[in-house]
Amino acid sequence: MSEASGETGNGAHRSALKSAAPEKAFYFRNPVAQDACKVNDLVAASRPLDVNSLYCNLLQCTHFAQTCLLAEQDGEIRGWVSGYRPADDPTTLFVWQVAVHECARGRGLGIDLLQRFVRLPAAAGASHLKTTITPSNHASRALFTRFAEKEGLSLETRLWFDTVVHFAGRHESEILYSIGSLPLRDSSN
Ligand SMILES: CC(C)(COP(=O)(O)OP(=O)(O)OC[C@H]1O[C@@H](n2cnc3c(N)ncnc32)[C@H](O)[C@@H]1OP(=O)(O)O)[C@@H](O)C(=O)NCCC(=O)NCCS
Repeated sequence: MSEASGETGNGAHRSALKSAAPEKAFYFRNPVAQDACKVNDLVAASRPLDVNSLYCNLLQCTHFAQTCLLAEQDGEIRGWVSGYRPADDPTTLFVWQVAVHECARGRGLGIDLLQRFVRLPAAAGASHLKTTITPSNHASRALFTRFAEKEGLSLETRLWFDTVVHFAGRHESEILYSIGSLPLRDSSN
């Protein structure tokens, strides 16, 4: 495998991962506003993820674009990770959602997205990757557990949003996963 990377005009990170079969290459880049509809479609097709409003995806693709990453193949979005740096905790890099299109699953794209995500320039200075996972989402649990193992990081969990207290029984509890400590990187990485 060979890898190429560079900067787009707006400072966004763009890189390509080429495999032995060129048609299987994924191109990784930060999103732009024009991607929001396709991102919304991918998330909607990726059960059990909560579907967001299109407006929410537009904000992710603009205000939060530097902490979001998508994978394209043949011009189609096949993978997506959205995140942000919480204003009250800049040492955290929070993952909002990860989605891989059904046709691209089981080939390591989910892990690849997370590994690239923590190395984005906008992730510099973060000590922990955090996310929440519902107890029934085995695929997501496996993804983040494998990510922590592959990166040699420790993983801690605790209840964050409770099904009764915070969701009034309308949604499963969300368990907070905290993975770290991330190696200190500066924004040129
Ligand atoms: C979760 C998801 C992103 C995984 O994407 P992926 O590209 O298939 O993941 P990877 O191929 O990188 O697999 C990473 C690890 O997770 C494991 N895994 C992936 N899907 C799994 C599943 N359905 N059940 C059990 N383990 C699974 C893999 O076995 C792999 O571990 P391994 O290296 O030991 O084999 C994808 O299944 C998806 O989009 N699901 C729907 C949306 C969702 O639940 N998102 C996560 C919540 S934010």
